[in-house]
Amino acid sequence: MGRNLFNLKELSITEIEAILDQATVFLNAKNHKKFAGKIACNLFFEPSTRTQYGFQVAEMNLDIKAIGFNPEASSLKKEESFYDTIKTFDAFGADLLVIRHPSNGYYEQLAGKIETPIINAGDGTGDHPTQSLLDLLTIRQEFGSFNGLSVVMVGDIAHSRVVHTNFEAMKRLGMQVYTSGPEECRQNELNFIPLTQALSRCDVVIMLRIQHERHGKRLCMATDEYNSKYGLNHENVSLMKPNAIIMHPAPINRNVEIIDELVECGRSRIFKQVKNGVFIRMAAVKYALEAD
Ligand code: NCD
Repeated sequence: MGRNLFNLKELSITEIEAILDQATVFLNAKNHKKFAGKIACNLFFEPSTRTQYGFQVAEMNLDIKAIGFNPEASSLKKEESFYDTIKTFDAFGADLLVIRHPSNGYYEQLAGKIETPIINAGDGTGDHPTQSLLDLLTIRQEFGSFNGLSVVMVGDIAHSRVVHTNFEAMKRLGMQVYTSGPEECRQNELNFIPLTQALSRCDVVIMLRIQHERHGKRLCMATDEYNSKYGLNHENVSLMKPNAIIMHPAPINRNVEIIDELVECGRSRIFKQVKNGVFIRMAAVKYALEAD
């Protein structure tokens, strides 16, 4: 009954494409009340706007009752463990748990112990499968397919779960995948490329927020210095290919990784990503609930 979605490595290309197809069906459908009577618990142990409330909207679109969770007002404050908190929601008899947690691979301690299907909404610097799926849907809408496209992810590579999920999945889908950004945020095995080269070569440019909360100390650099070296601005945006697009998982630090005027420019698909996120999350919920 039901199945987990922890990361994209466990899905075949056919399964990934099937979730994108299902999201497209939801995007085009007027009426999709499907899971009346089901209950989903959205258990976010880290702050979140798009993922948390996007899941809530997705669940409501499917007629699922959604329960939110405030760690500050829970028995975590009485030193209850993460494991016992999740066991409790499992015992409630909910139909789905959507979990975000700062520890990489938090779900490993739950596998086999929790009956309710779990969707991973982000684990530390590990994975973020629904973000990656919505990125893929946005790219497929734009270019029709993946094979032969080039993508660069720019910014805090080492601390980004978005990069870690996208890199593997995009390569498997036949894309040429590069990363760029400050030296202290690099991961050498992830195909580094200088930003100016990347901008003239890539069809998709994904900008990223510096994950200050995952650094020992704050990365010390003035905002305008960061933008001129590693961000998108009026000068370097002109290097991009005519049909290339700008994406960002958000939250955005305007004028740091991307200047204010470019966030909603003609090349930007940033708010389209947010919209696609609702339909991807509906498809992910359907995937988790409908396993046989
Ligand atoms: C990302 C995340 O939480 O990993 N945001 C998101 O889910 N849309 C990226 C980030 O926080 O910078």
